[in-house]
Amino acid sequence: MPDFDVIVLGAGAAGMMAGIEAARRGRRVLVVDHARNPGEKIRISGGGRCNFTNINATAALGRERFLGANPRFALSALSRFTPDMFIDRVKRHGIAFHEKTLGQLFCDGPATQIVAMLTNDLRAAGAAIWTGREVGSVERTAEGFAVMVGDGRVTAASLVVATGGKSIPKMGATGLAYELARQFDLAVTETRPGLVPLTFEPGALEKLKPLAGVSADAVVTHGRTRFEEALLFTHRGLSGPAILQISSYWREGDAIGVDLLPGRDALDLLRAARRETPKLHVHTVLAQHLPKRLAQMLGETIDLPGMIGDLSDKKLTAAAEAVQRWSLKPVGSEGYRTAEVTLGGIDTAGLDPRTMQARTVPGLYFIGEAVDVTGWLGGYNFQWAWASGWVAGQAA
Ligand code: FDA
Repeated sequence: MPDFDVIVLGAGAAGMMAGIEAARRGRRVLVVDHARNPGEKIRISGGGRCNFTNINATAALGRERFLGANPRFALSALSRFTPDMFIDRVKRHGIAFHEKTLGQLFCDGPATQIVAMLTNDLRAAGAAIWTGREVGSVERTAEGFAVMVGDGRVTAASLVVATGGKSIPKMGATGLAYELARQFDLAVTETRPGLVPLTFEPGALEKLKPLAGVSADAVVTHGRTRFEEALLFTHRGLSGPAILQISSYWREGDAIGVDLLPGRDALDLLRAARRETPKLHVHTVLAQHLPKRLAQMLGETIDLPGMIGDLSDKKLTAAAEAVQRWSLKPVGSEGYRTAEVTLGGIDTAGLDPRTMQARTVPGLYFIGEAVDVTGWLGGYNFQWAWASGWVAGQAA
């Protein structure tokens, strides 16, 4: 008889959820992690307040808000384990929370409350948690799987791989899930950093750098995809929620569009200023609607010295376009060092969406960020971790 019924590799969001659910079904569960503490990414998430779900991370909106080669894949798990079901757990554990914006739910207190909730539930369900243990080779056996953990060999009928993606290697991210997928002949789609700040070539950066620290509401677009959120100028380029969101869609060589006056018409504003305050400079007018340093930079770009009252419609149109149709060409991103997530991963074609089990390897499951499912910023990725972990926990 194997040592355990289920071994879960990775004590992150997805792995702990799968472990809890399997153990609640009476399965003998072991959760293993090489990090000293479970749930380290949960601890640092949401600026230490964990944006643990989003009320819109539902199957109904899933096709739009989750990226992957098959945008329908996530819908089954998302419909079976909903944001409400996670919110119920949070409430039952007496964890106070609030909606910040756009359906994003954050803890009022530290994110460690969510980690404690999960580790307590795991222990209460009877699962073993081994942290600070290196995972070595994994083999298929007649009864299931054998995993080298430290110097010992542990066996189980089912193996759930929940070791996450490549983002933030400093926190212990490894490519173990991808290596295991390949070992068992499962395909892995191209991986790249997502929800990540974008960087610019030195010439463009020279212009952006003086604005480091400035934040403005903006609509950022890539093709038909648009996000209206804050944009932040940094010493390396652009960040802020609007940029992180668009980064998941952006590809090398593409331009992004920026509208710095969302919901307003810059040309109307400039024409009104020409009528009402004809002696002002364009950048002074812009500074009435935008952060001062940003207005100044735009003023230099637009390069229309003199009074606004003297400017033709053609010149005002060009100025308005610079504000609302700013096209920028990032050269790259800050990479996995700061990316919140990894796009791509285990090819969903090889997994059963109802259970996350590999179609060709009975007993082997892949869940969470390791899989080619990536959510928007704002609690979507944790909801995917909970939902995929929950469905695997019902089956493993
Ligand atoms: P996760 O990475 O959480 O867990 C994987 C586990 O496997 C880790 O404990 C790791 O130590 C372990 N592991 C890896 N390799 C191993 C190996 N070789 N051997 C043994 N163990 C191994 N999302 C969201 O919805 N709301 C938010 O507020 C945030 N905020 C946020 C901030 C920052 C800074 C980052 C980097 C990310 C976020 N995210 C987020 C994204 C979110 O953290 C992410 O989607 C989930 O943690 C993914 O959960 P998983 O369980 O799949 O992987």
